[in-house]
Amino acid sequence: MRIDILSLFPKIIKSSLEHSIIKKALDKNLVTIKYHNIRDYSKNKYKKVDDYQYGGGSGMVLMIQPICDCIKELKKERKYCKIIYLTPDGKKLDQGTSNKCSLLENILLICGHYKGIDQRIREHFVTDEISIGDYVISGGELAASVFCDSVIRLVPGVLGDESSALTDSFQDNRLSEPIYTRPENYKGLLVPKILISGNTKEIERWREKKSLERTKKYRPDLL
Ligand code: ADE
Repeated sequence: MRIDILSLFPKIIKSSLEHSIIKKALDKNLVTIKYHNIRDYSKNKYKKVDDYQYGGGSGMVLMIQPICDCIKELKKERKYCKIIYLTPDGKKLDQGTSNKCSLLENILLICGHYKGIDQRIREHFVTDEISIGDYVISGGELAASVFCDSVIRLVPGVLGDESSALTDSFQDNRLSEPIYTRPENYKGLLVPKILISGNTKEIERWREKKSLERTKKYRPDLL
């Protein structure tokens, strides 16, 4: 998989994807990420990338020219399965979308900043708009990091123990069950007996029950 990311602040994204599982995926070349600074494509002599919005109103808008030129340049090299704009107006990211995206070959992500990007880019280039939740953050960079992390860990070959992605929260519309590790007794705080019983059938039943209880309590909308 290859992900191209257009941003004014690529370092924010890069630094968040240089650790742990995602770093291993990049090191193994299972995924390649290329960062493109929108400012590098500005034709303005001061490298300006934003301007006031037509019709008035506060906040700056990222101009069409640098983003448009960058996308056109990239599209000469490869065909993108999806061109995604990260925005709070988009469809909320969920595990199903991440699963589907993990099987795609080329994805292009556009990160807005300030008020966002010129609508014409959204209308003429963007195929999907994704939000990471009903709140506004300073730009699409952290949203792009969240998207990349959730997708990359699902790319075949990335997780050592393949089954561990299958038991993640949301994979079957359930939250995951409580988990424990050694020691069995920490200053009187005990691990549930069933988990050390060795009875795999009973353990499985217990896990399902706990997962259901948690889902009913915190996310009844999933059921
Ligand atoms: N940019 C600003 N807020 C965002 C959000 N919630 N999701 C995606 N991109 C964003």
